[in-house]
Amino acid sequence: MQVVFSGVVLSAPKTVRPIDSMNAEYIINLFLGSRGINKRMTRPAIMVLLVTLAALTTACAQDPPALKNIFRNDFLIGAALNPSQFCESNTVEATLVKRQFNSISPENVLKWENIHPQPGQYDFTLADRYVAFGLKNKMFIVGHNLIWHSQTPDWVFRDDKGNYVDRDTLLARMREHIFTVVGCYKGKISGWDVVNEALNEDGTLRDSPWRKIIGDDYLAKAFEFAHEADPQAALFYNDYALENEPKRSGAAALIKKLQSQGVKISGVGLQGHYGLNNPSVQQVGKTISAFEKLGLKVMITELDVNVLPSPTRSLGADISTRYESPAGLNPYTNGLPDAVQQQLAQRYADLFSVFLKHRDSISRVTFWGVTDGNSWLNDWPIRGRTSYPLLFDRDGKPKPAFEAVLKTAQTKSAMKISESESASVRQPSTIFNPAGKKPGA
Ligand code: GLA
Repeated sequence: MQVVFSGVVLSAPKTVRPIDSMNAEYIINLFLGSRGINKRMTRPAIMVLLVTLAALTTACAQDPPALKNIFRNDFLIGAALNPSQFCESNTVEATLVKRQFNSISPENVLKWENIHPQPGQYDFTLADRYVAFGLKNKMFIVGHNLIWHSQTPDWVFRDDKGNYVDRDTLLARMREHIFTVVGCYKGKISGWDVVNEALNEDGTLRDSPWRKIIGDDYLAKAFEFAHEADPQAALFYNDYALENEPKRSGAAALIKKLQSQGVKISGVGLQGHYGLNNPSVQQVGKTISAFEKLGLKVMITELDVNVLPSPTRSLGADISTRYESPAGLNPYTNGLPDAVQQQLAQRYADLFSVFLKHRDSISRVTFWGVTDGNSWLNDWPIRGRTSYPLLFDRDGKPKPAFEAVLKTAQTKSAMKISESESASVRQPSTIFNPAGKKPGA
């Protein structure tokens, strides 16, 4: 059985739960018999049949294919969740998450200011719910994040008099935090964003309080503590705008240095806060390659595509940057025009083509949010705008961008099959020509 979802043909096991097709066949046989219309079928029975078929069609139409299944041989598909989703008070979005994603990241609940708001005072209430949701649904659970300059309370860096503490004091606080939080979810959270956004746009180290007080080796220390706290956990460096050359080179140099010191680092997270045109897909591909070469796994950790006009030329993704709302910068309050919708769909198709090309090194693609309604881009860099950066609309319905991503997956998997077929056809020339040169070359 094949199902057509808005022009995308998918085979039954990937798209329709067995119960749907079983029910359909069962009901059709019940009413029609195996050799056509049952002559004794009554008018009410035909009505019931039509209503049932209509309901089934609607159910199929409302139940789009699951991204996690479509990409199951390529990479994990994740989403960043807020409490209403992982506590399941928002049932529409919780259901969508369970159906579509096999990895989750916490939008805020594991950040220092929430989980460790005061000295010696931890609050695991929401983090426990987040982890429980992931475990219950057998998802890859990400810990985001341990060490960052943002959303970290000021007391962390200060003594009773309000002065910066010394290196040893801050190292002790860092160690205690990492051991407590990572230790609490040891064996449950599988990968941690250990350090978030340590770099400036020019690739030098950001002069955060961490660096000012501890020195450049604060990153190595954070990774070492995390590894000690849970030796099995994957450990990541995570940052935005690594597609820009200076920042990418800075990140590569930083990671090489950590590797040469024997620090365990498993992967790099490219946040992926993209615009409709920037960065180019070539830049994205080059960035993935740069980190692949270091033997790292690459993750797209906070994917979204901002369709709204930017108040400045180079925006980045620093959450402390905010602007007042000048007129004209919130143009789509009544819906996204079709032309922009199509542009967004094409952008997602192009991005997923690159991700699929690098599927051997990409282990996860995580969206920053589930539906357009709960994206941070409604409030950043200008508060109160109407943004459309994700694959699901405000009602949790798939957008044309979702369909474009499905089509990309389908086209790529068709290409993979034809490549492997032509590879097997090419094989004899390899046998005759062990140097690997093309015959005649
Ligand atoms: C950064 C952080 C995330 C989140 C986003 C915006 O990218 O890594 O935790 O705060 O900004 O919401």
